[in-house]
Amino acid sequence: MRGVTDRGATSAGGAAIVSERTPAYSRVTLAQIMRATEANLLGTIHGGEIVKIADSTAGTVGHRHCGGPVVTAAVDEMVFLAPVRVGDLVETFGQVNWVGRTSMEVGVRIEAQSYSDPEAPRVHVASAYFVMVRIDEDRRPVAIPPLRVETPTDQRRHREAQIRRAHRLARRAEIEQGRG
Ligand SMILES: CC(C)(COP(=O)(O)OP(=O)(O)OC[C@H]1O[C@@H](n2cnc3c(N)ncnc32)[C@H](O)[C@@H]1OP(=O)(O)O)[C@@H](O)C(=O)NCCC(=O)NCCS
Repeated sequence: MRGVTDRGATSAGGAAIVSERTPAYSRVTLAQIMRATEANLLGTIHGGEIVKIADSTAGTVGHRHCGGPVVTAAVDEMVFLAPVRVGDLVETFGQVNWVGRTSMEVGVRIEAQSYSDPEAPRVHVASAYFVMVRIDEDRRPVAIPPLRVETPTDQRRHREAQIRRAHRLARRAEIEQGRG
């Protein structure tokens, strides 16, 4: 299968339980037209709707990578660079950037284009980074397939994701320490 090898984590008995997967294996593109029900009084789309689309994209990528259910554990600060209007075609591009034991970082890029004018330029609306965790039937975190990064772009994304991961963990530890 594309992007899969049988190198990976093993169970206590030595049987392969997860296979290495590349970012390409689970890469996802979603597209949808924005409707009036998703707009605010200015006629532009609520930021929360954009977050929801990005979260759905990250969930789909995570499910593909693991072959099972994932939940959103965290999402980094999201900066909105341009407004999205009713009738715009919104496209999201998501891929796994980094994988830990039970969690992964999924990067999502969101672009918009006027539906009525195919010549209109695509606009970069936002980018977001989600931490997705694979869970079992009891909603407990479980081990996921390792990531194999091969291309220079995927290797850069992996390095940058490691930096974000370190910052997330440091921030969480600092907050917990502050609470005593
Ligand atoms: C996400 C959840 C399963 C984690 O459970 P937990 O008991 O805290 O598990 P752990 O502490 O073992 O963390 C599991 C993994 O998530 C990572 N993680 C958890 N919270 C994180 C955060 N805030 N930032 C970064 N990573 C985080 C851990 O580092 C760990 O990664 P690793 O196994 O790759 O090293 C649990 O907090 C949960 O169910 N949250 C609600 C999820 C939800 O309902 N989301 C919205 C709807 S989908």
